[in-house]
Amino acid sequence: MATAELLKRVPESVSTAFRNKKVLITGGLGFIGSNLAQALVGLGAKVTILDALLPQYGGSHFNLQGIESQLELVDGNILDDELVEKLVTGTNFIFHLAGQIGYLDAKDQPLTDLDFNGRGNLIMLEAVRRQAPKARLMFSSSRLVYGKIQSLPVTEEHPTNPQSLYAIHKLLGEKYYAYYAHNFEVGGVSIRIPNPYGPRQQMKHSKYSIVGWFVRQAMDGETIKIFGDGSQQRDYIFIDDIVDACLRLIVQGQAGEVYNVGSHEKLTFNNMVDTILQQVGSGQKQNVSWPKDYEKNETGDYVADTSKIEQAVDWKPQVNFADGIAEMVQYYRENKQEYW
Ligand SMILES: NC(=O)c1ccc[n+]([C@@H]2O[C@H](COP(=O)([O-])OP(=O)(O)OC[C@H]3O[C@@H](n4cnc5c(N)ncnc54)[C@H](O)[C@@H]3O)[C@@H](O)[C@H]2O)c1
Repeated sequence: MATAELLKRVPESVSTAFRNKKVLITGGLGFIGSNLAQALVGLGAKVTILDALLPQYGGSHFNLQGIESQLELVDGNILDDELVEKLVTGTNFIFHLAGQIGYLDAKDQPLTDLDFNGRGNLIMLEAVRRQAPKARLMFSSSRLVYGKIQSLPVTEEHPTNPQSLYAIHKLLGEKYYAYYAHNFEVGGVSIRIPNPYGPRQQMKHSKYSIVGWFVRQAMDGETIKIFGDGSQQRDYIFIDDIVDACLRLIVQGQAGEVYNVGSHEKLTFNNMVDTILQQVGSGQKQNVSWPKDYEKNETGDYVADTSKIEQAVDWKPQVNFADGIAEMVQYYRENKQEYW
C-alpha cells in the first residue's frame, strides 16, 4: 500500500489534527518511525526527527527517501535531557519510538536497556510536563510485556509477567505514561505491538525481526530454519496497520491507557514461512530442534484481542499477511542494495 492509499484510510477527524502541527518522532530513521514520518509529511505535519542513528539498530537515511527536504532531522540521543526539552517545546504530537529494541540484547546490555527504555521515557515525560503540557504522546511498547500466555486471544487485562529485561523495561515505560497521565494530565498512550513487518525494516541480521530475516533468506535462495514443529501461533502485523493505529491513538486514545494491535489472522510459524516462500518464489525450509537459549523466552501462542482499540478509535487491521509480504518483497527487490 502506498502512503497515499494508507492516508485514505485515516478518518478526517484524525488526519486534520496533524495539518500544520509540529510533530516530533524519536527513532524516526528506524522502521516504524520512518513509516510514520512518511505518512505524517503526507498529512501536512511539520515533522522533526530525533535519532542518534545507532549502528546496531534499524535506522537508515534511505528510509526517509522522498521526504528528506520536508522535515528536520536532529542527530541526538533521547538521554540528552536538554536537547529533548528544547525539541518538545511548542510541539503538538510526540511519537516516542527510540529505544533499545532487542530482547536478546537486553540480556547483554541491561543498563543500556534500562537507560533507553526506562530513563528515556522519564526524560521525555518530564520534558513534556514542563515544556509542552498540552502535547499528545505515543509510546511503542511490546506484546512481550505479557510473558507466558495463559489465555487466547490476549486482552490488555491479561497478566503481565515479562520474561526479558527488554519487556520488564517496556512495562516500566507504560507505567510511567499511566503515572504522568493520572498525576499531571500528560496525554500519553501506549501501544503493544506484536511482530511487525514491512518496508523499511532492517534486514541486516535476525535479532529483531524474524519475518524480515526470513524474507531476506528466501530472496537469497537460502534455507529457513524453523525451531520445533512450527505450530506456534504468532500475530504478524503489517506496518501500514501499525501506522494507522498510531495516528488514531495519539489523537483519540485515552491518556494513560495501553492498547493492543494485532492482525486477527492466527498464523502458525509454518504458515508464515510457507507464505514467505510462496511470495518470494525461492528458498526452502527445514525444521530443526530448539536451541537452549530460545526456549526460555518462548511465550507460547500469541494472538491479540484488539476490541479495545477498535472500540476506542474505530481501527481495524486491513492488510493480510500474503498481501503485506508481497508488498514487502517488492520494496526489497527495488531497494536491496540499501538494506543487505
Ligand atoms: N520491531 C519490532 O519488532 C517491535 C515490536 C514491538 C515494539 N517495538 C518498538 O518500536 C520502537 C521502534 O522500533 P523499530 O522496529 O522501528 O526499531 P528500529 O531499530 O528500526 O528503529 C529504532 C531507531 O531508534 C534510534 N535510537 C535507538 N536508541 C536511540 C537513542 N537512545 N537516542 C536516539 N535514537 C535512538 C535508532 O538509531 C533507530 O533509528 C522501539 O521502541 C521498539 O522497542 C518494535
